[in-house]
Amino acid sequence: MTITTFLEQLADIEAKLQQQASATRSDLEKMFLSNNGLFTIISKQITEVEPTDRKTAGKALNQLKTAIETVLASSTGREVKDKRWVDLTIPGEKPEVGHVHPISQAMAEITGIFEHIGFTRVRYPEVDWDWYAFESLNMSPSHPARDEWETFFVDLPRSDEKGQVVLTPHTSNGQVREMERLGEPPIRMINIARCYRRQQDVTHTQMFHQFEGLVVDKGINIQHLKGTLDYFAEQFYGPGTKSRIRPFHFQFTEPSFEVDFSCHICSGTGEIAQDGKTEKCRFCKSGWHEVGGCGMVHPNVLKAGGIDPDVYTGFAFGWGIERTYTLKKGLEIDDIRLLYSGDFKFLEQF
Ligand code: FA5
Repeated sequence: MTITTFLEQLADIEAKLQQQASATRSDLEKMFLSNNGLFTIISKQITEVEPTDRKTAGKALNQLKTAIETVLASSTGREVKDKRWVDLTIPGEKPEVGHVHPISQAMAEITGIFEHIGFTRVRYPEVDWDWYAFESLNMSPSHPARDEWETFFVDLPRSDEKGQVVLTPHTSNGQVREMERLGEPPIRMINIARCYRRQQDVTHTQMFHQFEGLVVDKGINIQHLKGTLDYFAEQFYGPGTKSRIRPFHFQFTEPSFEVDFSCHICSGTGEIAQDGKTEKCRFCKSGWHEVGGCGMVHPNVLKAGGIDPDVYTGFAFGWGIERTYTLKKGLEIDDIRLLYSGDFKFLEQF
């Protein structure tokens, strides 16, 4: 074979190599370097070239081999149809990760605290009969809470026995329902649910949550109630937090109290020392925060639930979750409507 023919064949192979540059590594290897590959065949044919031209032929053969290796080095192991540049060192895009709403977090924490001392979490309807929301709780038909400026009445046929349907204004509707469910004490329930009232300002929303504790057994007294409040105060707000009860009035408890927890900013003193001076605590103003109500279950409520008040006594409490939660150390949220604003800038902090 003449050196010219040999070099022409090498040029043809080089042209094919450039055409196939985007093929996969294994295809390229098969086409050029396998036993039947174009490069393997042509390199054997060097013996047919005149001995005086072999040096030139060998040099050209080496150049072709280098070209094949260069193309192989930039080829990929898999089929690439759309050949685009991918920089694998660029940091990936993190998908957004959501989290549980702060009020759901508070509900889980509150449930855990009470379950630890033997309470069971229950759920009762958030759209309920007047009987459970008011009548069975010893509330007279003329009680202001039963006014439609206070409570949302649902436009459904009324029941002769259970009255109208309402959006529950408090979780106390669970009291008689729980007595009916168990039939016989002991009762230790924690009822957490949505509540609805016609109110809206920095401390009130039309939809909010309450948690209701109810304990009924033989020999239950105010000390058990106070002990439970103190236990919750320390668990939820931290060691050293105290509870306080003040005489109040609810139709369904007798005696009734309002419940306060000591302020963690001024440690219940109502004053803060600053720059050598003593100032009123701006968060609580008095050393205490009111969170809700409590009391000893009224005998008429026990009777409505089929429980003999001469044998059993009980205590109950009901607090707003939003209110209770926003007083936590480090939060001090002064407008509870923010919790339901759907504002990510606010919610992402929790
Ligand atoms: C009651 O609802 C009684 N059922 C509590 C109770 C239960 C007393 C058992 C005795 C025994 P009151 O209306 O005060 O009580 O509400 C209790 C708490 O719910 C309030 O202190 C407040 O923290 C919360 N709350 C009431 N209305 C709203 C509202 N519109 N928005 C947010 N929180 C509210």
